[in-house]
Amino acid sequence: MNKIFEKVLLDKENIEDICKKLGKEIENDYKDTKDVIFLGLLKGCHPFMSDLIRFIEIKAQLAYMDVSSYEGTKSTQDLIINMDLQMDIKNKNIIIIEDVVDTGNTLNRVINLLKKRGANSIEIVTLIDKPENRTVKLEAKYVGKKLGKEFIIGYGLDYNEYYRNLDCIGIPTKEIIEEK
Ligand code: IMP
Ligand code: MG
Repeated sequence: MNKIFEKVLLDKENIEDICKKLGKEIENDYKDTKDVIFLGLLKGCHPFMSDLIRFIEIKAQLAYMDVSSYEGTKSTQDLIINMDLQMDIKNKNIIIIEDVVDTGNTLNRVINLLKKRGANSIEIVTLIDKPENRTVKLEAKYVGKKLGKEFIIGYGLDYNEYYRNLDCIGIPTKEIIEEK
């Protein structure tokens, strides 16, 4: 296999520190809240969600959605739901777990949908935030690390659906991007 990373931005230890810090922050904020659901957006949330939630000792349920969106449009109808929630979220307190918030488009549409279905509160926790790329007004309450515009892979983040399984996050080498 070619060398994967041009530069590692978050290694295993950095990620664990972030999970601990965000986890305890969320635990503190939600310790007196009822009906909490951790909602993971697949597939990118997978490693981050499983590590993060182990640091949040509260009574909560897990749920997953797999969504994508047509680019260049702003309407909620353009949210493609590949896999929907399997539970009623009316009056529930949702914590959305994401790998990265980039333009914010997909998440914006998900939030509109959850509001329509009657969620009581919705907050976002993301491992990576790229605020410079934002095209809609959207803020994550809990952010692991802020980055610039760079494209990154690993630990949930993919390039053509590969490399989600790696235990760190970084900028891919040219060879990886050009590889067939
Ligand atoms: P959005 O632009 O905020 O709607 O992000 C949509 C999706 O693009 C994210 O959930 C990721 O799956 C993907 N994405 C955004 N930036 C990156 C990146 O740097 N690497 C890999 N996937 C990314
Ligand atoms: Mg994603």
